[in-house]
Amino acid sequence: MNKTKRILCLALVLMLAFSFAACSSKTADEPTAAPTVAPETTAPETDAPPPVDEGKRVGISMPTQSLQRWNQDGDYLKQEFEAAGHTVDLQYGGDNDVPTQVAQVDQMVADGCDVIVIAAIDGSSLSAPLAAAKAAGITIISYDRLLLNSDAVDYYATFNNVKVGTLQGTYIENALDLKNAEGPFNIEFFAGDPGDSNAGYFFQGAIDVLKPYLDSGVLVCPSGGTEFSQAATADWNSANAQSRMENIISQNSYAPSGGTKLDAVMCSNDSTAFGVETALVAAGWTKDTMPIVTGQDCDKANVINMKAGLQSMSVFKDTRTLAARVVTMVTAILEGAAVETTTTYPNGTMDVPTFECDPGVVTVDGDSALGYQSVQVALLDSGYYSEADITG
Ligand code: BGC
Repeated sequence: MNKTKRILCLALVLMLAFSFAACSSKTADEPTAAPTVAPETTAPETDAPPPVDEGKRVGISMPTQSLQRWNQDGDYLKQEFEAAGHTVDLQYGGDNDVPTQVAQVDQMVADGCDVIVIAAIDGSSLSAPLAAAKAAGITIISYDRLLLNSDAVDYYATFNNVKVGTLQGTYIENALDLKNAEGPFNIEFFAGDPGDSNAGYFFQGAIDVLKPYLDSGVLVCPSGGTEFSQAATADWNSANAQSRMENIISQNSYAPSGGTKLDAVMCSNDSTAFGVETALVAAGWTKDTMPIVTGQDCDKANVINMKAGLQSMSVFKDTRTLAARVVTMVTAILEGAAVETTTTYPNGTMDVPTFECDPGVVTVDGDSALGYQSVQVALLDSGYYSEADITG
C-alpha cells in the first residue's frame, strides 16, 4: 500500500467511525440527517448501493409476501420503475411484521433513496422513519394504504376505498333483491385488519348500503357482529377468518339445510372470503347451498372458487393501473411538473393529495346491466391472468 492510499484509508476509517458515532447517539424519533453513505467519489468497494447515473433510487416497501396481491404489486412497481430508468430496492415486511417494515424503511432512508413507495402493515407505525425521510428530502408515496399521523406523506395513490365497500354492499342488495323482498335474510360480516385504514373505508362503504335493511329487519345478523370492531380480521388472515366463521356457525346453529339459513357473508376481501368459504365447505355447504359471499382483489384462489360456485363476486382492482399511476406521479414530481390528483384523504395530521383509481365488480359471467365484468373479459382478455392461473 503506497503512502497516498494509506492516507486515504485512514481518512475513510475516521469518516466511518465518525458517522457510526453520530448514528448511535440518535434516539429513535430523532430525525435522521442526510444519508450516511459515503459520497460516490470517495467510497471504496463496499455493499453500498450502486451509484445512480441517470435514474433515481426508489425504495418499495410492501407489507407481506403471504398475500398474493402484494407480490403482484411489488413486481409491477419494480417493473414500471425500472422501465422508467430507476434503480429499485423492493422489500417485504416479512409476514406482516411491523418492526421489520420499520427497519426496512429506515434502511431505505439511510441508503439515500430519492423516493420511497410504502404500503404500510400498520399505517401509524412509520412516523419515525417518515420524519427522517422528510428531513432528508425524500419523496414519500403512500401506496394503496394510507400512511397515518405523519406530515411527511407527499402523495397517496389508491383505489376508491369506500366504493369497494359500496360495490360489495350493492352486490348483496341486488342479489337478495333487498329493495323488494321482505326477508328476513341472515347475514354475517368479515372486515379487515384494524391497523389498515382501508379496512374501515371498505366496511363503511358496505354497511352504508346495508344498514337501512338491518334497521328495518329485512337483514338480520344472528351473531350480532355488525360493528367494524366485532367483524375485524387481524392481518386480513384467512385462518383467522376461518376460525371466526367456524365459531359463528356453531354458536348460531347455521347449517346448509335443517338449521339457521345463512344468506350472505359480506367479506371485505378475498383472503377473508377464502377463510369463510373453507369453513363453510368443511361444515357441509356446497355450490348449491352456498350463501352470497363477497370479496376483493380477484386473487387466483378466489377466482377458482368463484368458478366452482363457492364465491359470488370479487371487486377487481387492477394493480397494473395503480403501479403505472405511481410511476406517473413520481415522474411528474421529479420533473417538477403538476401532479394529477382526484381528492384528498385526512391522515390525522394532514390532508394527503390523492389519486383514486376506479374499482369494479367481477363475476364469473358478468352482467352488463349491473355493470359487472366477467372473469373472461376483466381477467383473461386483459392479460391479468392466464387460463392456467385460474384453473383449480
Ligand atoms: C388492500 C386490499 C387487500 C388487503 C389485504 C388492503 O389494504 O387494499 O386490496 O385485500 O389490504 O391485503
